[in-house]
Amino acid sequence: MLKDKNIILGVCGSIAAYKSAILVRLLIKAGANVKVILTADAANFITPLTLATLSKNPVYTQYFEEETGVWSNHVELGLWADYMVIAPLSANTLAKMAGGLCDNLLSAVYLSAKCPVFVAPAMDLDMWRHESTQQNTDKIKSYGNVVIAPNNGELASGLYGAGRMAEPEEIVDFLNTAIQKDLPFLGKKVLVTAGPTYEAIDPVRFIGNHSSGKMGFAIADQFAKLGAEVTLITGPTEQKSQHKLKRIDVVSAAQMLEACEQEFGDADVMVMSAAVADYTPVTIAGQKIKKTDESLSIELTKTKDILAALGRSKTTAQILVGFALETEKEEDHAKEKLMKKNLDLIVLNSLNDKGAGFKTDTNKITIFNKAFEKTVFDIKSKTEVAKDICLEILKLIPA
Ligand code: CTP
Repeated sequence: MLKDKNIILGVCGSIAAYKSAILVRLLIKAGANVKVILTADAANFITPLTLATLSKNPVYTQYFEEETGVWSNHVELGLWADYMVIAPLSANTLAKMAGGLCDNLLSAVYLSAKCPVFVAPAMDLDMWRHESTQQNTDKIKSYGNVVIAPNNGELASGLYGAGRMAEPEEIVDFLNTAIQKDLPFLGKKVLVTAGPTYEAIDPVRFIGNHSSGKMGFAIADQFAKLGAEVTLITGPTEQKSQHKLKRIDVVSAAQMLEACEQEFGDADVMVMSAAVADYTPVTIAGQKIKKTDESLSIELTKTKDILAALGRSKTTAQILVGFALETEKEEDHAKEKLMKKNLDLIVLNSLNDKGAGFKTDTNKITIFNKAFEKTVFDIKSKTEVAKDICLEILKLIPA
């Protein structure tokens, strides 16, 4: 599970910091790439040299090296990580995470990271039981962080009770289980298209459509969240991805086709949610077209149907999902496209449904499978709709 995964291990000031050496060794043994960030206090408990030697990477303690001025870019570190683990997590860093404070490299990387974050608190019994600590723990859980609960046992203070950091072996087991459970698409390559395409008429004009790219980006993000290795091919859009993925920007239908054909070969799943232009001008004027005549005709030619082309080349192991945006006889048209384009699923949205379609933050979908069995979903946010789509696709993947 952890093989080849990039893990940032944050270590806070706590006597349990000595266990981070064992944790690093176990992560490295499991095949992970580990980079360690120490807070200033943590460096009093365990030396950077120990952790650098075990992790085979430099240890980060501050934003820049005082002697060389070399800058430790927190955003880059955050983006490098597939997982962030903070063990031990002190009450102080926990409070900072809950409040969004950012006064050292560890908290800056935490705020920049887009990956799942696991924390293993370690503190004295009364500190752990304190109402503020419990509230902070609930708060960081509500942000999506995963808390690996401390154990009961003898504490550094001599007291006995909850507050002992989970053992390194338990943390690694926890990570493996969580990754398996929460990341059902781990190891799967998923290709998603999003947005409109622009078909140039002349150097300043194009034929486009109202697609905002919101639905496709939400699907790509959801797949990434569920552990897939995602490639997102997108037409012109303002959207930004929230997760780590490979993004390929294209403009025209022809460019989208080329990118899709290049990436489809080793994809396990492909979701074609882009609103690809069906027609494109036969020629693109070299100069801006002047308004000389009363009327103007632009000859258009059909673009190649990307989805249909992929449907012809797909293997039985590949899952191909298309979209149908319809205004009439919605279900009939959707089922026809499902068959004609050799799809495994088709996601229908009707412009007759309020809150569905372009530019809205919501969508209402119906999904048909090959057997024409339909699943009707309520109107939901595009993020939730994306999750529904991913989970329907998951049903088609053998366990
Ligand atoms: N699509 C595609 N390539 C195109 C046109 C559409 O891959 N050149 C894909 C869309 O991304 C979508 C599906 O085909 O997943 C359905 O698109 P749609 O335009 O509704 O279907 P068409 O078959 O083009 O039919 P029509 O425009 O007549 O509704």
